[in-house]
Amino acid sequence: MNVLHIDSSILGEQSVSRKVSAAIVARLRLTNPGLRVTYRDVAAEPLPQLSGSLASTLGAPADRVPDELSRDAAKLHTALVEVLAAEIIVVGAPMYNFGIPSQLKTWLDALAVAGTTFRYSSAGFEGLLNSKRFIIASSQGGIYRPGTPAAALEHQESHLRSFLTFLGVTHLQIIRADGTKSSPTSEDHGLPSALKQLEALQIY
Ligand SMILES: Cc1cc2nc3c(=O)[nH]c(=O)nc-3n(C[C@H](O)[C@H](O)[C@H](O)COP(=O)(O)O)c2cc1C
Repeated sequence: MNVLHIDSSILGEQSVSRKVSAAIVARLRLTNPGLRVTYRDVAAEPLPQLSGSLASTLGAPADRVPDELSRDAAKLHTALVEVLAAEIIVVGAPMYNFGIPSQLKTWLDALAVAGTTFRYSSAGFEGLLNSKRFIIASSQGGIYRPGTPAAALEHQESHLRSFLTFLGVTHLQIIRADGTKSSPTSEDHGLPSALKQLEALQIY
């Protein structure tokens, strides 16, 4: 079983999402002692941002990529290959300014490759990652649950959900630590609550 573990928090050791993503991987290891884990920290080592010319290299054979773009194109390609090689992808995803960290967005940009992760068909587009399981370790300073006053400001989990659905992912679970800034002592919120949700995470 191959697992890809992504972290994107800028808060290093203090990060909540890093603790949750690590706990998810630890739990996966419990039932899969032979788990092979590839780790990528997109905050520590940000991927190159797309420019028009770099975007045009996505999905192109390496020998068609101009020399001046080959280094950056190879980095994006490696990030894509890691996803294609994994059965389970665990993503540490904090909320920053109501969305995902820009470094995580740059990682997503490497994954949308026509012909590889999605394709155009007569019916519109079709996602090709339907065999992948994604588990998101979400952390939010506030509380954005449906029905709460700030629910409409939630563009982090919803962005990931929309993007992964576009790529054909149907098996998506979110383990959420919310209220990490606003109500850290509430039992229903924060890191303790996220770790408790893990007990119910189906492992197979
Ligand atoms: C740059 C930055 C922007 C943030 N923006 C928001 C925000 O828009 N809404 C919110 O509820 N919390 C916000 N927070 C708080 C984080 O979501 C919260 O601390 C979360 O636990 C961070 O996860 P991490 O510790 O894994 O980085 C922000 C934190 C930082 C550092």
